[in-house]
Amino acid sequence: MPALKRLLILGGTTEARALAKACVRRFKGRLETISSLAGRTRVLRPIVGDLRIGGFGGGAGLARYIRNQNIDFVVDATHPFAAKMSANARVACAKTKRPRLQIVRPTQPVADVTRHEVADLRAAAKLLPRLGKRAFLTIGRTELGVFAKVKEVWLLVRVAERPTAPLALPTHRVVVGLPPYTLAEEKRLMTSHRIDVLVTKASGGTATETKLRAARDLGIPVIEVRRPKPEPGPSVTNVKAALAWIAAALGSAAPRARRSGGPARTSGSRRNPRPPKRGRRGSTPSA
Ligand SMILES: NC(=O)c1ccc[n+]([C@@H]2O[C@H](COP(=O)([O-])OP(=O)(O)OC[C@H]3O[C@@H](n4cnc5c(N)ncnc54)[C@H](OP(=O)(O)O)[C@@H]3O)[C@@H](O)[C@H]2O)c1
Repeated sequence: MPALKRLLILGGTTEARALAKACVRRFKGRLETISSLAGRTRVLRPIVGDLRIGGFGGGAGLARYIRNQNIDFVVDATHPFAAKMSANARVACAKTKRPRLQIVRPTQPVADVTRHEVADLRAAAKLLPRLGKRAFLTIGRTELGVFAKVKEVWLLVRVAERPTAPLALPTHRVVVGLPPYTLAEEKRLMTSHRIDVLVTKASGGTATETKLRAARDLGIPVIEVRRPKPEPGPSVTNVKAALAWIAAALGSAAPRARRSGGPARTSGSRRNPRPPKRGRRGSTPSA
């Protein structure tokens, strides 16, 4: 019987959750799946397989974790805007010579949206008063402070988890929710709050595209923050392709993926990994 391999999924996304679930089902007895979350929010949806929470301490910390936990390969399924974590994953996998795959969602732009592309949220905040008086912000929670000085625009702020303290924003309202949302729900939300401009990130994926379709149908302009460039190395665009890469990594064939520039690593899984060191910090089995 081949030795059990260990996969680390850097998560926080729909794809990461789906991949963990599929790996546990498909590679039972051959693969241990460990998902990692930054831990800035509570675990809002169940994750199948093992779960660890919290930062690693940069690329060096992640490299240490990979060695100590005998991780054989890493799938970086973080959010397209989680650029630091992806850079750390590249550094750590290069250091430890472990294969790494990125899941990079396609952007899938919705046709006929009045889109104003900006480089970052600061530029979005600057442009906002010129485009509307009542804005819908769907940019997550951590960077809302950028809009603190936008006094002339009323803000509808959507977050995944209710903030524990008041937000330091001018006149605003918070709505709490998790995607996916239907087109009808998005239209209702925007209409009932008389939204006249949407601010979003070019995160891609189908789970959030209904807000763009709603904006288009309601004639609302969209300020969209451009994505950071993905890290170089092998990448796929979806969970199915990531599963094929893992299957290849578990077998004898070299895992195949599109190479997006830079040195791609497609081998390096060890045949007889040592059992992991005891006392995994923060590792908790999840539902
Ligand atoms: N689903 C979503 O909507 C979603 C999820 C996540 C992020 N985002 C967006 O992405 C941007 C950056 O988010 P971010 O702060 O999470 O990413 P980041 O800026 O790339 O990461 C910052 C640090 O957080 C820790 N970290 C991030 N992801 C981790 C993971 N999966 N496991 C363990 N540690 C992790 C790492 O700390 P150490 O250096 O200590 O290891 C990392 O250096 C924001 O714009 C945010 O809105 C959106």
